[in-house]
Amino acid sequence: MNVFARSPLPRRVLDSIGLLLVRLGLKRACPVKRPEGRPERVDTKVSHPVFARWLSLLAPKLDEKGAAEHRAELLDGVSGRVIEVGAGTGLNFRHYPETVTGVVAVEPEPYLRAKAEGAASEASVAIDVVDGVADRLPAADASFDVAVASLVLCSVPDQAAALAEIRRVLRPGGELRFYEHVAADEPGLARLQGSVAWFWPWLGGGCHPNRDTVAAIEAAGFAAERCERFSFRPSPLDAPVSPHVIGIARVPWRP
Ligand SMILES: C[S@@+](CC[C@H](N)C(=O)[O-])C[C@H]1O[C@@H](n2cnc3c(N)ncnc32)[C@H](O)[C@@H]1O
Repeated sequence: MNVFARSPLPRRVLDSIGLLLVRLGLKRACPVKRPEGRPERVDTKVSHPVFARWLSLLAPKLDEKGAAEHRAELLDGVSGRVIEVGAGTGLNFRHYPETVTGVVAVEPEPYLRAKAEGAASEASVAIDVVDGVADRLPAADASFDVAVASLVLCSVPDQAAALAEIRRVLRPGGELRFYEHVAADEPGLARLQGSVAWFWPWLGGGCHPNRDTVAAIEAAGFAAERCERFSFRPSPLDAPVSPHVIGIARVPWRP
């Protein structure tokens, strides 16, 4: 709404006030027109050089201790065009079955993206690794059959915005495959998660230990079809992020 529309002040005075507000940085000279429902300001750069190097050493070890099986389960039976959000070093790539016609793997962190490009070149399905963030996916509306989020919805700055974007790029009836660590149900573990929550993002490249990700997925309008909860604690240090889920949530066929 233009608050000046019915102002009794002359146009010249209004223009001068407007100019002053622009100079003071309180108003945009040219308001940004953006597609409805998409966030106005999105951080498109993610740089965690230390975490990225640590992750690329640690994640293969976690795969050996059981995460590889979770990834295989996550991607079992996937088919069609896939978008993977926050692909990291590309540890999911070798689990894509041949029913997948192509994968766009979005990864904003430069060091991890370079690793993912290496993994893509060895995968048995065509994988295009691209720069981008979950809150503004570089993809057209309804252009994918499946979206994959693995251990990433803990790290995105705005879960609701990321899930709205994932929903936007999926076709009606499309699937979100998720593998995430989540908030604990058990009170003692929930207290532990709460007590480390202030420093965990600093250690883990923005990772939050206690997000209720399944509730967020449902709040974004997906229907959870399958959701398996389990504990995965490869070492005692992983206790705060031990509650995990693997599941499938679907975009409704009709809006
Ligand atoms: C714990 S790693 C998981 C990597 C990979 N998905 C996996 O399963 O191994 C979290 C990933 O989220 C990515 N990430 C962080 N912020 C992001 C954002 N805003 N949009 C997309 N990805 C993001 C990080 O760069 C990193 O690759």
